[in-house]
Amino acid sequence: MPSDYQLMLASLDKLADQNVDIAPLVSQQFMTTDSVDLQVYADGNALQLEYMVTKVVEMLLFFAQGNPRQTELSYYDVPFHDDLGVTWPMYEGYMQVMLSVLQNVLGDAWDENTARAWHKQTDAMLKVIRQHIQPLSA
Ligand code: HEM
Repeated sequence: MPSDYQLMLASLDKLADQNVDIAPLVSQQFMTTDSVDLQVYADGNALQLEYMVTKVVEMLLFFAQGNPRQTELSYYDVPFHDDLGVTWPMYEGYMQVMLSVLQNVLGDAWDENTARAWHKQTDAMLKVIRQHIQPLSA
């Protein structure tokens, strides 16, 4: 049975084969969800927001390898986002958008094991974010 890490890498290979960049898709779709405070998101620079997708995927791969980079999330990313006004529902909404984009783009390659791997690692990452988010923005 392949590991979560192997399954996730296989998904990314598939995206590369299909020549699909999920960054703009996630970024644009997130803007249309209820969870996002559009003002917070619109304040962001489009290139940074697309870079953010890459960063989230990279972090999920670290999680899947058992090296969750908690320090980076807790000392840098979450406080930075707290200051921007990013709240807990936005993180949850963001991950949901990312998973649904992956599902749509991967089609048949989004099989049960692949879906489970991505969901498990996003849940783990959200759990760490939840622990470090400022109580006021939770
Ligand atoms: C899921 C976990 C997330 C991670 C790991 C993450 C990571 C990042 C990173 C690395 C940057 C670039 C920071 C820099 O300038 O050096 C960034 C920027 C930003 N993120 Fe996130 N992010 C996450 C979720 C979110 C969510 C849910 C929102 C919702 C609105 C958000 C909004 C922003 C905004 C507005 C910027 C600023 C872009 C700019 O500088 O113009 N992020 N994020």
